[in-house]
Amino acid sequence: MARESWQSRIGFTMAAAGSAVGLINIWRFPYVVGAYGGGAFILVYLMCLVLIGLPVFLAEVVLGRTAASNPAGTFRKLGGNRAWAATGKGIVITGFLVSSFYSAIAGWILGYLYEIATSGLSQFGSCAAAAACFAQWTGSTGWTLSFHALFLLICAAILLLGVKRGIEWGNKFLMPLLFVLLIFICIKGLMLPGASKGLAFLFTPDWSVLTPTSIIIALGHSFFTLSLGQGTMITYGGYLSRKDSIPLGCVPVLAFDTLISLLAGIAVFTVVFSVGLEPSSGPSLMFNSLPLVFSSIPGGHLVALLFFFLVVIAAITSEISVLEPVVAYFMDEKKWSRRKAVTICALAAFAFGIPSALSTNLMRDATWMGLTFFDLVSSFTTNLLIPLGGLAAVLLAGWRWGFHRFWAHLEEGTAHMATRYHWLKPYFWVGVKVTAPLLILLVLIANLLS
Ligand code: PHE
Repeated sequence: MARESWQSRIGFTMAAAGSAVGLINIWRFPYVVGAYGGGAFILVYLMCLVLIGLPVFLAEVVLGRTAASNPAGTFRKLGGNRAWAATGKGIVITGFLVSSFYSAIAGWILGYLYEIATSGLSQFGSCAAAAACFAQWTGSTGWTLSFHALFLLICAAILLLGVKRGIEWGNKFLMPLLFVLLIFICIKGLMLPGASKGLAFLFTPDWSVLTPTSIIIALGHSFFTLSLGQGTMITYGGYLSRKDSIPLGCVPVLAFDTLISLLAGIAVFTVVFSVGLEPSSGPSLMFNSLPLVFSSIPGGHLVALLFFFLVVIAAITSEISVLEPVVAYFMDEKKWSRRKAVTICALAAFAFGIPSALSTNLMRDATWMGLTFFDLVSSFTTNLLIPLGGLAAVLLAGWRWGFHRFWAHLEEGTAHMATRYHWLKPYFWVGVKVTAPLLILLVLIANLLS
């Protein structure tokens, strides 16, 4: 009995870690750190994780496990009125928006994998050459569109076939492999001349560079990387048995996710500072820097292939987890078959993702307030909708539903957690009822005013 529940908690942790670890850790984390304040940004981000991310994470999983439904169903059941039901639907829409632009970016990675597999690494002799490749490939309409389509096709096929084993295998074996490979790339990066400047940038906070924008970006990023605020963890919580401890299932996910981001940061910034790249050069940062490490290693071609392959797998396990709540919504609420729901959701994500895929080429100059379509959708969801989704979850758990119920459900499966650690209940009370909602609200208001 005990062993069975242990196994299923590990299953949850693996699935949640597969969802959490993805492009946001490896591709986005380094470039937002580079653009929004280096070490000081990282500290704010870590504070957001502990003070806000963890309570929101637990709230979502508790709500999901209790209602065992899609996000809209969960909010309707536990919120008990129309406003909460509508909020749940809004969360499903956020998930859909994320799935569309996430796939456009994942298409870049898939495209890189294809290019490296077919034409070798010779183009990546220097960072300038790597940057030229990035600009050339993402500048091609056919290239970005076809890999966006191919990526969604792969995800839809997996969602359709429901190859649970395959996904589990990916999460169980390939994620640890990604971890080991990242450590190896970091070591290689640390051996480059001037690498210590990269470490200093990452780990010596300079508070003077921090702006209100940095704080909202750190908050949005901490939610995005943990797959919060858009229904994924609510849906995954529904698969967790009442015999399992939610805190023990969630804390390792947070730790692993953070570790992968920090490693990606070290891998990228040792190169950036070694060759004098601009840390704030934006979404191309990883693509312009890491190739230098690959071309400096004997057998670098294989390492690069393996790296991009693992990042594609990480992106697939994440994309599936963003689409699943949307699919579950149509299956539960509209009684669609899985096949119909997956086909329509994937087609819609493809269609809505087209302008994002074209934002580096055909629609590069079509801007609103200086932002391309991709920038607009990604910043609107990451910096506004996702934090709002997280806020709704803690408000529902801590206030509408009530802390005593939240606590009773959280305690289920934890075996005397609260009697052993007396400080846990007050910590969660403050976290779920006060700090998380208050800080999210404050950051959102400060951002609106700035
Ligand atoms: N957390 C994933 C990543 O880091 C992205 C994601 C967001 C996945 C939301 C699911 C839901 O790449």
